[in-house]
Amino acid sequence: MPVLVRSFAKINLGLRIGPRRADGFHELRTIYQTVALHDLIRVEVSRGSDIEISCEDARVPDGESNTCWRVTERVLRALKVKRKVRIFIEKKLPIQGGMGGASSNGVATMLALEKALKRRLTPHDRLRIAAEVGSDLPLFLIGGTVLGTGRGEEVYPFDELPGLHCVTATPAVGVSTPTAFADWDKRQGEPTKLTARKSFDKISEFSQSVYRWLNGSRCTATGVPDKGWDRAEALLLDLVRAGIENDFESVVFPKHPVLRKVKRVLEQSGARYASLSGSGATVYGLFGERQRALKAAADLQAKGTPAQATRMLTREQYWKKLFPGDASGKQTR
Ligand code: C5P
Repeated sequence: MPVLVRSFAKINLGLRIGPRRADGFHELRTIYQTVALHDLIRVEVSRGSDIEISCEDARVPDGESNTCWRVTERVLRALKVKRKVRIFIEKKLPIQGGMGGASSNGVATMLALEKALKRRLTPHDRLRIAAEVGSDLPLFLIGGTVLGTGRGEEVYPFDELPGLHCVTATPAVGVSTPTAFADWDKRQGEPTKLTARKSFDKISEFSQSVYRWLNGSRCTATGVPDKGWDRAEALLLDLVRAGIENDFESVVFPKHPVLRKVKRVLEQSGARYASLSGSGATVYGLFGERQRALKAAADLQAKGTPAQATRMLTREQYWKKLFPGDASGKQTR
């Protein structure tokens, strides 16, 4: 039986880049947030031993460089089964958009494949495979609001932010993540003991801000909302006050000024918070009211910028909606 699965996107609520490590990756601190935008993936298993990937979008690779391929190969090996696996990807998320589309596709494939094979990986194997394939995969094994540390692959379920409205805009500029990291390194100059120390200080500042926010948010959540803001917006305001920023903006915006412009448009349209997601090219804005979000998305589209209005997805919603038409989503966790 084919298994259909939704592959949701993420945004980054703040991202601090630390020093480059001996393995070439950068130490990161970020808060990931899943949103309702998604690709659709269908997984079919039969006798044989091939992995076949189809997608109408020619930019999606069909071979070993596809995250779905790499996940599938590892899942079959971990479960010690031989099968032909066919994966159909209906691409709706931006490619190289900083929304974790390819990473999410990999995890969605893993969960659908377990279902199609009627076999379960151990939680340890799931996380190991996800982290092996890429830094942004493990977050999709948690969903909702997720704290990311290490190279982004060490993930912890975080206090949930209530589901705000979100507008994502992806101008047609290509941003490569490895290049963005290399630009960041250039900007930092040759790593000396002093710059490495500063870099570590910045990521621990982020952790402290998040910690302060976590403590503060509990007070705000029980307090009276300020100036007509509801609880969700008050929590978000606290997060912004805590100084949550995306370090990639300082290297990606100068190269692609259109992204800074889009961020301004979102702010002027009433976004409570706007930022680059990951290394871009997606810029998002968070809104308290649906009408404002819809209008902001329509205004951007009218100016020729591909934009969509969506919602943040809580952890519970993420798991509930993962398999369309399946009420047993919870058992997948
Ligand atoms: O892990 P992932 O495949 O997403 O990483 C893509 C590239 O981004 C890596 O090869 C590396 O160049 C860079 N990267 C990094 N530090 C991270 C995550 C990714 O330098 N924390």
